[in-house]
Amino acid sequence: MMKFESLCEKVPWIESGDIRPYVFVRPENQIQNPGARHRTNWFPHAPVLKNPLDVKQIHFADQIYAIEERAFGPSNMAMPRWVFYDCAVMPGFVAGFAAKPKALSAACRKVLDPSLMKATGSAVGKTSHLPALQSIDEMDWVPLSLFIIIPTMHKGEWVAHNLCSVNSLLPKEEQLHGLGFLSKAFGLWYANVEQCSGMTQWGSPALKLHSHYGWLEVIGSYAPVHSHRQTITYRAEVKVDLWEKFFLKEQDLGFLENYGPSSFEIDPKQEDSMVRLQKEIEADKGPFYLSAHEIAQKKLDEKLTIYQPKSALNS
Ligand SMILES: CC(C)(COP(=O)(O)OP(=O)(O)OC[C@H]1O[C@@H](n2cnc3c(N)ncnc32)[C@H](O)[C@@H]1OP(=O)(O)O)[C@@H](O)C(=O)NCCC(=O)NCCS
Repeated sequence: MMKFESLCEKVPWIESGDIRPYVFVRPENQIQNPGARHRTNWFPHAPVLKNPLDVKQIHFADQIYAIEERAFGPSNMAMPRWVFYDCAVMPGFVAGFAAKPKALSAACRKVLDPSLMKATGSAVGKTSHLPALQSIDEMDWVPLSLFIIIPTMHKGEWVAHNLCSVNSLLPKEEQLHGLGFLSKAFGLWYANVEQCSGMTQWGSPALKLHSHYGWLEVIGSYAPVHSHRQTITYRAEVKVDLWEKFFLKEQDLGFLENYGPSSFEIDPKQEDSMVRLQKEIEADKGPFYLSAHEIAQKKLDEKLTIYQPKSALNS
């Protein structure tokens, strides 16, 4: 697997430790032996540890909300505060990257500055009975991204509940490339996650990230139970050796050896294609997979090939 030094060439912001992972977890949910399952040296800096049940940490939580609200606001999926508390902090594990205030670029400061948020009409501070956002320079660490995973009743399986990064609020040239990708990678590594499920909308840029943590099985292609029915539900066995392909944009030969294209495609603009595959899944004709390399090559609205194990294709 790519060494930390090579990763730093791709994502220089990670090197100094002034921007480093954080873990925002109630003490009872602390992970035993963090990072013991997956071998990687991508996260050499000790994470910033914060307790979400400690009221003094409210400013850290408020900053997370401020990013999340604006990242998900346009798709009408901003997370209500009670969801964060009831469905993330209490049962789960919250992680991401945080920066020392001095490490923030002018563009990043502008986006995280409380007075600017008021000017953009953010609900943060308005809906809260708690103090408005703290000035960036009064904070020890400023969160830049958020990844939430929740353990399920199925042993070894966690659900990725939320992923967002400040990059989605910045122009391309000001982004910390890889921030969203590495936030989820860190969370999976630190929490020793074996199997990760999740949900995202067809056509979302997030699919370019989610497909790189392990071979991505489509366990649902259409979800009328969700508020956005054009949602993919996926599951992946976490394979740390695949992660570097996100940065190297290399073909995954192991995937090609095991899986081949089926006759199914998903067209993010055609709900029919999602319903058709969902019927196949429900009829137990799977498993069905997506190719990370193909998703990386394609525009968000292009059709995606559905893959199947070669053994199933030949039978
Ligand atoms: C989706 C999201 C988490 C990605 O995080 P990020 O920090 O922007 O992404 P990273 O820097 O880790 O990765 C960059 C890669 O993601 C992909 N990507 C990110 N935004 C993209 C966009 N708008 N269009 C196309 N590709 C995009 C590209 O592959 C890009 O790599 P490239 O620049 O080499 O082409 C972030 O954009 C976000 O918070 N979006 C809003 C909330 C959301 O939709 N979350 C996902 C819900 S499951």
